[in-house]
Amino acid sequence: MKDLVSMEELSVAEIGELLEQAGRFKQGEIWTPKKQMYAVNMFFEASTRTHNSFEMAEKKLGIDVLSFDPSKSSVTKGETLYDTALTMQAIGVDVAVIRHSDENYYEPLRKLGIAVVNGGDGCGQHPSQSLLDLFTIKEEFGGFKGLKVAIVGDIVHSRVANSNMQALKRLGAEVFFAGPPEWMRESCAELGTYMAMDDLVEQMDVIMLLRVQEERHDGLLSFTKSDYHALYGLTEARAAKMKERAIIMHPSPVNRDVEIADCLVECEKSRIVEQMTNGVYIRMAILEAVCQDKEMRVTTCTY
Ligand code: CP
Repeated sequence: MKDLVSMEELSVAEIGELLEQAGRFKQGEIWTPKKQMYAVNMFFEASTRTHNSFEMAEKKLGIDVLSFDPSKSSVTKGETLYDTALTMQAIGVDVAVIRHSDENYYEPLRKLGIAVVNGGDGCGQHPSQSLLDLFTIKEEFGGFKGLKVAIVGDIVHSRVANSNMQALKRLGAEVFFAGPPEWMRESCAELGTYMAMDDLVEQMDVIMLLRVQEERHDGLLSFTKSDYHALYGLTEARAAKMKERAIIMHPSPVNRDVEIADCLVECEKSRIVEQMTNGVYIRMAILEAVCQDKEMRVTTCTY
């Protein structure tokens, strides 16, 4: 795996291997690169979890981390993302974890020798979040076949939903959608079934809520927070109807009392905090995979 840019590029077997390896890291397995490796986390959009858990994963693997703040870099002088990545490669960086608002920003960077790990591209893909979500589901249920998983809310703007819906379907889960019909994607019809929130809650094994991404609605949000919560949120009343073993997920950050009632965020059924914890182990597995690929390419180079 030279780069990790989208879930679509991972086979079911590769997804399985990354989840297994994350499990081994969670059990305490240690891996470090054969030679010193260097990573830079280039976040052009805000992040708490992805940025810091990649940094934690890098430190746990003994990878040196360069600091990068776009507001203090030559990006402010008009340097392109390609030239920034080219610079990182030239100074000896092995892995660039990048979050950027442009969908598919990574395409021009793939010809570089530096490994590119996508930390989120606009409304496109968020593969490390998807893998940590899959890991959390597998940890709970042991697998995916026949599981009923609902993805609820701002699907059209959610790179998490875009990555998860097709991955879950390929892994054998039954995918359902709920939320404002105008916030669905075209691909929802081919990947799953749309249901009303009140009909869905009693049937699902996993209810995956999505943040309402106010910043991507161009100030045209059609719901008040309380209206959205009443129509499409996981209220206490709806949560009370969930199956005994069903779980609640959310990639975070959470808009409390919008997508989910405040008191449910850390309730018994919630795996929201566990998702954050699992993010470190999944990111260790991703970094190990790209570093091993890089080591192999260096070893087999004959000139
Ligand atoms: N889930 C997620 O991507 O969170 P951050 O935006 O804080 O990284």
